[in-house]
Amino acid sequence: LKIAVLYGGTSGEREVSLSTGKGIINALKKNGHEVMDIDFNPERLNEILNLNVDLVFIGLHGRYGEDGKIQGLLDMLEIPYVGSGVLASALAMDKAKSKQIFSQYGIATARSKTYQVRSNNPSEISEAIKKDFKPPFVIKPNQEGSTLGLTIVKDIAQIEEGVENASQSDDTILVEDYIGGREVTVPVVGKQGEEKALPVIEIIPKSDYYDFESKYQPGGSEHIVPAQIPEEMTDKLQKHAVLAHQLLGCDVYSRVDFIVTNENEAVILEVNTLPGMTPTSLFPDSAKKIGWSYEEMVERFVELSIK
Ligand code: DAL
Ligand code: MG
Repeated sequence: LKIAVLYGGTSGEREVSLSTGKGIINALKKNGHEVMDIDFNPERLNEILNLNVDLVFIGLHGRYGEDGKIQGLLDMLEIPYVGSGVLASALAMDKAKSKQIFSQYGIATARSKTYQVRSNNPSEISEAIKKDFKPPFVIKPNQEGSTLGLTIVKDIAQIEEGVENASQSDDTILVEDYIGGREVTVPVVGKQGEEKALPVIEIIPKSDYYDFESKYQPGGSEHIVPAQIPEEMTDKLQKHAVLAHQLLGCDVYSRVDFIVTNENEAVILEVNTLPGMTPTSLFPDSAKKIGWSYEEMVERFVELSIK
């Protein structure tokens, strides 16, 4: 097939996407496809408008790539692409909106509240947060990835800095109760209605938590596949991952992140509609466990996307 890979982009996760894109481009070439690679930025919009390909593989992360915007453009151009459509992408990118949906369907999520930074000054917001939350809690941009802009507030004195950090990425910041426990993630693959969860991965970061460094530095974290957790918990995580994917209306693949608490509760963090496919990423590791090489995994996504 003739496949265009969009990667790079202009979001905060550009560097991650350059690595994801490289992996996908190499895999598609090895699989015998004709690949056109586009480091996507607004200047290259014309190329997208004139694309003549069978399929687009979106290797972007974050804004304008993972949030439904590029998907909308490709829909208008009637060019098929790999992965979730406009609504699912936009919902998954909006942590607050997706959390509302998860909790309505019995998937536990941390108590949270959003604050608008545009209409309020940072100290007003900090005061409001102080009234609503007691440390430890987490301040993050509502729409962002790779833990960029995230602060775990252990001491009230960190609030203003946390608000400042989060507001660099988004005008809406999300504050959540901090949920301690084991960090796990579940890849989901399949056509709509026929999705399957891949093996659960437990992440053991070298630093305090699974931050940007431990995500992308080689050796920054250990991935345990399958996670060494009780069978009932594995079942629950896999069921909840597929349910979360379906509730948002995702398609082809996603990766659903959770915390397993010390009280043995599965608390969802978020659904990633374009999970990282870098050398240190989680999804390919789980796929390997069921015998799919990176190239085979990519080829399955392609097959699932040719309607
Ligand atoms: N947002 C990054 C790419 C991930 O979830 O893997
Ligand atoms: Mg994410």
